[in-house]
Amino acid sequence: MEERIDSLGAEGQRAFQSAASTAELEAARVRFLGRKSELTQLLRGLRDLTPDIRGQVGARANDARERLEAAHAEALARLSGLVAATTRDVTLPGRRPPVGHRHLLTSVFREIETIFRGLGFSLAAGPDVEDEAHNFTALNIPEGHPAREESDTFYLQGGAVLRTHTSPVQVRTMERNPPPIRIICPGRCYRNEAIDATHHVEFHQVEGLYVDRGVSLADLKGTLDHFLKAFFGRKTEIRFCPSYYPFVEPGASVDIRCFFCGGKGCPVCGPLSGGWLEVLGAGMVHPNVFRAVGYDPEQWTGWAFGAGIERLVMLRHGVPDVRMFLESDLRMLRQF
Ligand code: PHE
Repeated sequence: MEERIDSLGAEGQRAFQSAASTAELEAARVRFLGRKSELTQLLRGLRDLTPDIRGQVGARANDARERLEAAHAEALARLSGLVAATTRDVTLPGRRPPVGHRHLLTSVFREIETIFRGLGFSLAAGPDVEDEAHNFTALNIPEGHPAREESDTFYLQGGAVLRTHTSPVQVRTMERNPPPIRIICPGRCYRNEAIDATHHVEFHQVEGLYVDRGVSLADLKGTLDHFLKAFFGRKTEIRFCPSYYPFVEPGASVDIRCFFCGGKGCPVCGPLSGGWLEVLGAGMVHPNVFRAVGYDPEQWTGWAFGAGIERLVMLRHGVPDVRMFLESDLRMLRQF
């Protein structure tokens, strides 16, 4: 019996080694290691033997089985390597390297640009490093105004400033072009703020300016109503509240009805707002601004608005912290 075990082991190993395909190998496995194989039957028959020879024959049979299993595993590895090597399809396209996409703020800039292009506005741009004349003086912000203080503005050597809003682009555009003017200007702004969830030293605004004969507050309301409905949804309700900016008269802050609670009051719009969210500042261009750029305020009227992009996006997309826009964390970026 022991001889039979040995020869079965040797025969099986040879069969595994010479198998030329996985099908052949499988047939050999069934034959030498399968449930109905001679070796398995033999192992099963052990219980009929007397205890003294049972141990001896059993050890031999188990040994043979283990060697066969190892030889089978080896043959399987050899054959599946072969399969992988011969079935590699060189016509398949390569793996694409990961590519990025537009930043959420950039997409929103483009979206706002599209809305205003539809109304006949074009794009304007200006420098991030400004002079005080364009950032403040021409905008009717007098010497000594708190907005000029170093606690709010980054001053560079030589008296230049990092623009604190996009309004200097209005001034530059009007200096270079006669009316009528219809522009929007998206851009980066800087303020010397303590950074927290809603304030950053670096943020973005979009400025709008419309100057022509007979432009009225009704044009401003109509345009912003259209813009805010296109941006926040058709049902958006808006309201104008009197507000002060030195470069407009009258000036307004523009609110939308809180779309989280429908105006009942919630953590987003706060207990004191009465269910409204302030989204931008606007107003009729101040005659002093027209004078500063050489326009005759008796002939021309116009309106301007300025909106913080981060705030618009935080509200619409539920982004809880303004710092997330600049952190370049892929977990954030991939969501938009
Ligand atoms: N420049 C103002 C700000 O930064 C926004 C604004 C622009 C208000 C135009 C009125 C008109 O807060």
